[in-house]
Amino acid sequence: MTYAWDMSLETGIESVDAQHRRLFELASDLDLAIEGLACGDDPVGDAVYALTEYCVEHFADEEALMEGSGYPDLEPHREAHRILTARTMKITTRYFNGEEIAPTELAPFVVDWLKNHIEREDKAFAAHFKRVPDES
Ligand SMILES: [Fe+2]
Repeated sequence: MTYAWDMSLETGIESVDAQHRRLFELASDLDLAIEGLACGDDPVGDAVYALTEYCVEHFADEEALMEGSGYPDLEPHREAHRILTARTMKITTRYFNGEEIAPTELAPFVVDWLKNHIEREDKAFAAHFKRVPDES
């Protein structure tokens, strides 16, 4: 399964949108690997790792933008990121402990979560971010 990017998910913050698109690609890569359509010694492991790592990186970058722009709802947003990271890590750890991940687990979960999160929390942040004067 591949996860098509939907323009309605754009926040208007270029770096954030690019990272969201990349997360969709990595989720798609993971499903392709699970379906046996990727090469390498451990394509599923590599794809699980890449998706999880990029989630963490993306959240850190987004939170840095929030901090830099004095976003008042930083803490609840950070908490939402923490919850997703914890759930993702749980699935990832199970995988690396030798359990088989069903194709329906990690990637669709991350993508569904992201869609909801972008629609509500990230777009709320983007509205704030665009109001803050650019000091650069
Ligand atoms: Fe976010």
